[in-house]
Amino acid sequence: MAEQSGSAPKKVRTRHFQNAKENGIKITGLTSYDMLTAGIFDEAGIDFLLVGDSAANNVLGYDTTLPVTIDELIPLTRAVAGAVKRAFVVADMPFGSYETGPDEALHTAFRFMKETGAHAVKLEGGVRSAEQIRRIVSAGIPVMAHIGFTPQSEHGLGGHVIQGRGDQVATLLADAHAVEDAGAFAVVLEMVPAEAAKQVTAELRIPTISVGAGPHTDGQLLVWTDWAGFTKGRIPSFVKQYANLRQTLTDAVLAYRADVDSGEYPGEKYSFHD
Ligand code: KIV
Repeated sequence: MAEQSGSAPKKVRTRHFQNAKENGIKITGLTSYDMLTAGIFDEAGIDFLLVGDSAANNVLGYDTTLPVTIDELIPLTRAVAGAVKRAFVVADMPFGSYETGPDEALHTAFRFMKETGAHAVKLEGGVRSAEQIRRIVSAGIPVMAHIGFTPQSEHGLGGHVIQGRGDQVATLLADAHAVEDAGAFAVVLEMVPAEAAKQVTAELRIPTISVGAGPHTDGQLLVWTDWAGFTKGRIPSFVKQYANLRQTLTDAVLAYRADVDSGEYPGEKYSFHD
């Protein structure tokens, strides 16, 4: 959105997502869970930052996103929202915080909006979450929807399985239309074949954001720790790694340890004197 539009918005709003779709301008997003990365990504012109429930895996050390709570995500979201000047900040609603119905969903959305300074909330599910989305939107809170592979349902879906293949495209389209009709301002398509994502993008008026859904969507989103090579172990095959922070930090910590062991650090240079 930043470089291609010529008149990059000073502060990204939901209308800029819609303008981007209508004018063929790509939207860029990354996850962020802290003020330092949020500040860097914001200054670099990333359009939106998602304080994802992937903080469960990437900050808190859980195996899945299921255990993370509202109370754990709120301070992270507040840190990110407080660090940005331009980027649009989306708070992810965790598993167990909206599924029982629209009242619970609105209550959770109120907490994120009042306690963090985020600009929107995200929740998973298409048809099954449409009433929740409708209620939150009717209270004036923008909602980013999330369909295709939805990590909070990974046990129900049988693991990390690509969604929308073959006959499943009808279900994907039904979910996409349901969230658009409910008032979502954008929809994340996660782990969906590129052709299916292309069809969804062509049929919807609202922008589509790909997480492993190929090049034909209106925008792209990646988990920053995967994208920057910080994650330990395997990263999803759709992620292009733009840095190797894990190696950089490992090299730095080994050098520090060796310097302390040998007495090289702090030496005279890094010591105070009378
Ligand atoms: O929590 C998260 O990081 C997400 C993205 C993968 C869409 O929901």
